Amino acid sequence: MSGAKDQKSYPKLDYDQYARTLPADDLWGQVKRTVAGSPVDSSHIERIVDAIRTGLQLAPGDSLLDVGCGNGALSRLLFDSCREFLGVDLSEYLISVAKSRFESLPAFEFLAQGVVEYLRKEPTPERFTKALCYGSFAYFSAPDAAESLHLLFDRFRNVRQLFIGNLPDLDRAADFYTTRTPSEEELCAHDSPIGIWRTKDEFATLANGAGWQVRFSSIPGLYSAHYRYDALLYRPAN
Ligand SMILES: C[S@@+](CC[C@H](N)C(=O)[O-])C[C@H]1O[C@@H](n2cnc3c(N)ncnc32)[C@H](O)[C@@H]1O
Repeated sequence: MSGAKDQKSYPKLDYDQYARTLPADDLWGQVKRTVAGSPVDSSHIERIVDAIRTGLQLAPGDSLLDVGCGNGALSRLLFDSCREFLGVDLSEYLISVAKSRFESLPAFEFLAQGVVEYLRKEPTPERFTKALCYGSFAYFSAPDAAESLHLLFDRFRNVRQLFIGNLPDLDRAADFYTTRTPSEEELCAHDSPIGIWRTKDEFATLANGAGWQVRFSSIPGLYSAHYRYDALLYRPAN
């Protein structure tokens, strides 16, 4: 039954619907890589790409999986650092943008699918050596977030490093929300504008529970560094 009880008391964000409202060439706007409505400066994008390359130790022989890849505007900047690439995203629209602008088969491919469905069904998970989830993890539902870390650890056995970037830090939510105080419900909601906020301790518990070790970092001076962090997940030494 639907009714007042189902109404959420926080603003909601659906990336697919949101991206469709923007011009086809507003690639950074479509994935909300903006500050005060304007696309972030290209120097910030370069620093994000550098952090991903360095964190993952991307090498020419790598096969890279990017979950929650959006329209591929960020992914394609990594194409020259790996041998093959698959980007997966829930949004049919964003994947259509990625396919029309950046796909180059057979090596660089995009697929429209939800993260957990894809991770459960990928027929040859062992082909991937590195994985990325940039700016997307907070938008996975809590069960999907936990299950995706388990599936990546258990099925994608050759993925040595997993870079999960731009995570909203619950300890610093007040540094982002300077003009209003979000409800507890909003901070825990994957379909809110920022997604689920987690402390580093909470994130580490989630990652450790799936088998991963974690190292945290951030890019000083990055437009979002005052309220977000990056996490590099790696397999424990035997
Ligand atoms: C902020 S965008 C980031 C896109 C890209 N990684 C980037 O950094 O430019 C967040 C993306 O997460 C995707 N997403 C949200 N929930 C998802 C899910 N359950 N499975 C796959 N993708 C999801 C959205 O469709 C959206 O494209």
